[in-house]
Amino acid sequence: MQLPKSPKALPLIQLIQGIANPFEYLEAAVQECGEPFTMRSPGFPISVVFSNPEAIQQIFTADPNCFETGSGNRIMQPVLGENSLIHLDGRPHQRQRKLLTPPFHGERMRTYGTIICDIAEKVMNEWTTGNPRAIHPSMQEISLRVILKAVFGLDEGERFEQIRQQLSSMLDSFNSPLSSSLLFFPFLQHDLGDWSPWGRFLRRRQEIDELLYAEIRERHEQPDRSGNDILSLMMLARDEDGQPMTDSELRDELMTLLFGGHETTASSLAWALYWIHHLPEVRDKLLQELEPLGRDADPNEIARLPYLSAVCSETLRIYPTVFFSLPRIVKSPIEVMGYQFEPGIMLAACIYLTHHREDLYPEPKRFKPERFLERQFSPYEYLPFGGGSRRCIGYAFALFEMKLVLATVLSRFQFSLADNGPVKPVRRGITTTPSGGVPMILTNKLEKANTPVHV
Ligand code: HEM
Repeated sequence: MQLPKSPKALPLIQLIQGIANPFEYLEAAVQECGEPFTMRSPGFPISVVFSNPEAIQQIFTADPNCFETGSGNRIMQPVLGENSLIHLDGRPHQRQRKLLTPPFHGERMRTYGTIICDIAEKVMNEWTTGNPRAIHPSMQEISLRVILKAVFGLDEGERFEQIRQQLSSMLDSFNSPLSSSLLFFPFLQHDLGDWSPWGRFLRRRQEIDELLYAEIRERHEQPDRSGNDILSLMMLARDEDGQPMTDSELRDELMTLLFGGHETTASSLAWALYWIHHLPEVRDKLLQELEPLGRDADPNEIARLPYLSAVCSETLRIYPTVFFSLPRIVKSPIEVMGYQFEPGIMLAACIYLTHHREDLYPEPKRFKPERFLERQFSPYEYLPFGGGSRRCIGYAFALFEMKLVLATVLSRFQFSLADNGPVKPVRRGITTTPSGGVPMILTNKLEKANTPVHV
């Protein structure tokens, strides 16, 4: 089997480069080898990286049974557990997706509109004028509160506070390339007590698990048949044999939604606020579009605004927080772009490289929302949420949340960047976030008469 060219650096060096500076590594690899290229990393299957829309279409539209994905995601197993949707394949994967997808779309999703705006306003109201402060932690707090509300129906109380704090701390334990290495190198995963990074991770996971199992236990004792939140929907669900999900299945799926739906959206929001304030012409155009709607606009109307939508699309294009689709490991021989791939080879659609192709996005390093007003991109040219049978189940929810949070923040508060220097993407676990958290200064709270405050 003839594989595409591979960078000359040793596999271990490639892995370290990929962890430390993922975007630089990917760009250098394409320069050296062209596209597609082969990535060899110790402990991982040989991977072939694609950024050509035709190849991505072939991969996303192939029969899902040609691939296995679950085993390719093992780096997330310690956090999410073996029953997580991302570790399932075949029938169990389809069944869980069918259960988990509807709450994040359509009418169900829209019921969260006002809640999202209220949470954003409440969190941002804690800012005082004049002092520089990083915006990223506030965006994390907003997205964590939103996802906790969607998943558990919780937005206050002791257990809510504990889950919120423990989850934030767990994410913080992967907040640099060095600490993210814990996930990539199993030999670092040794519990050497409280002072060791892995020991601390395990204890925190134990505390989160106790909180999640306590919530599940309480729901068993007092069943909630309303189906108003996702945990109650999961507890009502039965498989073909009439069996409910086990408690450990429930726990793993809860962690998957909390993790998948939190950091990704928070980083994208921090990036959006960075670009909007870094480029005054973008901010002015956006404010012009928001102005006629007033402070208490209908969330559905906000979600339809064309320039706001283009700003969100361009934010997710230029630095996609998840920069690869989930891996597709070949199970039965398949041909892609003239290459014949045998079982065991991992095929990876690289979101970042696709979004930076000159032929699709001229001047790819420039933030230009207008590209999304001037033309439509196919799902294989623009793929911040992946595609095919593994496409992100939260994509509609994430976009809805991003638009509502941005509209709320921009129409109620005036900000400026504390420092107009360049901000770089840095790794945080398997996602990337803006370096330094984007320090901003609140310059004015835009008070208006007769505006009801929902919180
Ligand atoms: C801006 C925010 C988000 C981004 C950029 C993002 C991106 C992605 C990407 C790239 C994938 C892999 C898709 C593939 O391999 O084809 C994915 C999968 C997934 N996402 Fe998201 N996501 C976001 C928000 C969310 C939210 C809000 C949720 C949940 C509420 C969520 C839950 C999931 C789950 C469960 C999967 C696994 C799907 C499967 O294995 O079938 N994500 N996401």
